[in-house]
Amino acid sequence: MDSKKLVVETLNKVLPEDISNEQIEKLVEKPKSSDLGDFAFPTFILAKSLHKAPNLIAQDLVSEIDTDGFEKVVNTGAYVNFFLDKSSFSNDILHTVLNEKDDYGNQNQGDAGNVPIDMSSPNIAKPMSMGHLRSTVIGNSIAKIITKLGYQPIKINHLGDWGTQFGKLIVGYKMWGSEAEVEADPINNLLKYYVRFHKEAEEKPELDDEARAWFKRMEDGDEEALKLWTWFRKLSLAEFQKVYDRLGVEFDSYNGEAFYNDKMNAVIKTIQDKGLLQESRGAEIVDLSGQDLSPALIRKTDGATLYITRDLAAAIYRKNTYDFVKSLYVVGSEQSEHFKKLKAVLKKMGYDWSDDIHHIEFGLITNNGKKLSTRKGRVILLENVLNDAVDLAKKQIEEKNPNLKNKDEVAESVGVGAVVFHDLKNERRDNFDFNLEEVVRFEGETGPYVQYTNARALSILRKADNDDYLKANDLTVSDPEAWDTIKLIQQFPEVISRAGEKYEPSVIAKYSLKLAKSFNQYYAHSKILTDDSGLNARLALVKSVSIVLQMSLALLGVKAPEEM
Ligand code: ARG
Repeated sequence: MDSKKLVVETLNKVLPEDISNEQIEKLVEKPKSSDLGDFAFPTFILAKSLHKAPNLIAQDLVSEIDTDGFEKVVNTGAYVNFFLDKSSFSNDILHTVLNEKDDYGNQNQGDAGNVPIDMSSPNIAKPMSMGHLRSTVIGNSIAKIITKLGYQPIKINHLGDWGTQFGKLIVGYKMWGSEAEVEADPINNLLKYYVRFHKEAEEKPELDDEARAWFKRMEDGDEEALKLWTWFRKLSLAEFQKVYDRLGVEFDSYNGEAFYNDKMNAVIKTIQDKGLLQESRGAEIVDLSGQDLSPALIRKTDGATLYITRDLAAAIYRKNTYDFVKSLYVVGSEQSEHFKKLKAVLKKMGYDWSDDIHHIEFGLITNNGKKLSTRKGRVILLENVLNDAVDLAKKQIEEKNPNLKNKDEVAESVGVGAVVFHDLKNERRDNFDFNLEEVVRFEGETGPYVQYTNARALSILRKADNDDYLKANDLTVSDPEAWDTIKLIQQFPEVISRAGEKYEPSVIAKYSLKLAKSFNQYYAHSKILTDDSGLNARLALVKSVSIVLQMSLALLGVKAPEEM
């Protein structure tokens, strides 16, 4: 049984009946110091109803309590302190992990429902930014975490492949570009036309009119406009795919904004039928003043639809297609207003499932404290970052383990893994600064540190060259140095739930750092490979650590090399 449950149920038998298990569970704490046991129960709230001093209550409880499953139960002042029985605890948990392997921590047997995750969603004809990296890796990790919790994720790349910017791009390409140039280096050259367009349009505003006209042609299905657009989209996607391959991220759908073109009129008609569409200076809007929001602009004066119109169509399409229990959007915090409006319009349209839409927002990656910006040239190109990280990883491997066989492959896993891990270990709403050297270090709070710890565990198992522990009945670890590690392993299922409830991969990343650190401490203080009666249990512990570390890394979308 879950050890906290054991504590709660043990307390339940001796506490007054009107206190529920949920209340007890909320009160039970984990003491800061292990001298105070593994769990503690404060008795203060009982003082009033029992007309007794808290320390006396604690004393009485201790005298009545059933100590089955505990080494001892004592009281310290007003607290009841529970010390778990270490031998049965370690035996139970190690057997569980060795039996369940990769299924350890699974919950709800996979029938919790569909959850579309809108993630990555870069804009065509622009380089993928660090912001899109965040969305990609956070979304990918959430998909893996909720899979363990029994949900079925549907990873959707809502490509930014429609909008007035494509009118600008076509104008730029026609004025300054050539087919050969674009084919040679698609994204950089398309970006070049786009940037130049903005510069020249400052002096020549008629360029903007031309761009609008081209976008209008796209919306009207004009053949030439669509041919160019299709070409830009295809080339961009091929470039993005290189990054996704390196990150090991796959999508279930690439339905981007353009996919909703033929679904827009129906949505606008529904809005109209419900009496929500209003005219405002020639444009059509939905008033959201009752929701403390500025109006949602549904259609511009020239009839063109907008980002939010396409998101309305997408939200409804997803509900109809996937019948979701929740619908997630992993998008930067700067779009929080947009998602509030989206939900507000859907709510007004009478769709109560709009409450199941969650904007999974995240903060900015900064460079020396400054916001990155394409316009100002302060871009960090994702591909360069990955390449630099891999180079740095390679250098460290050359120093530490020059004889390693598949150095390049390992360097790729370590370098890319380091960038992903660094991103995910930060709470997603926080902004963070990007410093490559810090990200790829083998020591400290980094991905390589966790990977390295796992590789070390695997190398111990290789050295032991003995599988007897897999069949052993007694996996009692008596070594007190191992206690922290064992308890952490037992907490893994709870950690996954917490990460899933908060849509917060950092919970997993932080946990994996803690587990790695505690295992390294154990390893530094104990002789694992000594051939005595405890050997099987110690090897089972090493194996369990590697199972849980590998799974944690997998949940973050980070590879775990066997040697490094
Ligand atoms: N393409 C947008 C951008 O880069 C993100 C799209 C997010 N998803 C959505 N359904 N609005 O800013």
